[in-house]
Amino acid sequence: MLRALFISLSESRSLRTFAERSSIGQRLSSRFVAGTEVEDALRAARAVNQAGMSVSIDNLGENVTNAEEARSSAQLYKAATMVPPNFVRVDMEGSPYTQRTLDFVHELHRQPENQGRVGAVIQSYMRRAASDIERLLDEGIRIRLCKGAYKEPPEIAFQKKSEVDANYVKLMKILMKSGIYHGLATHDEKIINQAKAFATKNRISRDAFEFQMLYGIRRDLQQALVREGWRMRVYIPFGAEWYPYLMRRLAERPANALFIARNLFRK
Ligand code: FDA
Repeated sequence: MLRALFISLSESRSLRTFAERSSIGQRLSSRFVAGTEVEDALRAARAVNQAGMSVSIDNLGENVTNAEEARSSAQLYKAATMVPPNFVRVDMEGSPYTQRTLDFVHELHRQPENQGRVGAVIQSYMRRAASDIERLLDEGIRIRLCKGAYKEPPEIAFQKKSEVDANYVKLMKILMKSGIYHGLATHDEKIINQAKAFATKNRISRDAFEFQMLYGIRRDLQQALVREGWRMRVYIPFGAEWYPYLMRRLAERPANALFIARNLFRK
């Protein structure tokens, strides 16, 4: 029930406008969002790098509604263009965007200068995930596997956690055996242990794939994996439009709301 509440709050335009503009809102989000400026993300990235992990940086903002917003977001990523070119992963949002996002990734990846530099995200709660993976692997496209963070109807998505987890493990094994470098994005310790056991049993080297987690979540587990010699990437979100992202993190673990509230009263 709380999950549904936070997901519906994530869609509230008025709350979003209020929260994103208030200084108290920005303080509340700071555990899971690096800050509002590029410099905040770079500062967080340096600290994560120093702890032996690589990073993905995400300028928050979803479902842009006009060309101006799209252009200004694209401009920010252009400012971050690196030599040699960096890797760009196109995040996956709710199901109205699934097909067009995948089409976009396929189209970008077909351009010779982008080969191996553009990746997709697959959500294991989607019933179509296995066939999407097959097509992406046919073209050698790197995949981030996650469980999925949106509310989707039963016709297209598994509803029970046990089904989503079982599909995750099934797809994870396909990815790990594919010979392509993929990212396993989860904080689920049981699944992470299964991935480690599968890699060891099948002699899949520790640099053939990576674990990925979100900034501020299970930092203990992130560091433990690095100590054990596994590759770990932390996803660092930043930007003024942090509200829907934070609400989805609360939906995944409502106890985070208490945690955030406690931090607010700390000096
Ligand atoms: P699950 O939700 O089953 O949780 C397992 C355990 O992990 C919990 O018991 C708890 O210990 C810990 N945990 C999970 N979430 C937590 C939280 N918010 N706070 C504290 N502890 C938590 N989704 C999407 O739809 N599109 C996308 O593009 C992405 N991208 C993405 C990138 C990366 C790097 C990650 C890690 C995740 C995503 N996601 C995503 C989100 C993903 O789909 C999913 O919603 C969350 O990762 C939570 O699922 P878990 O796999 O962690 O398992």
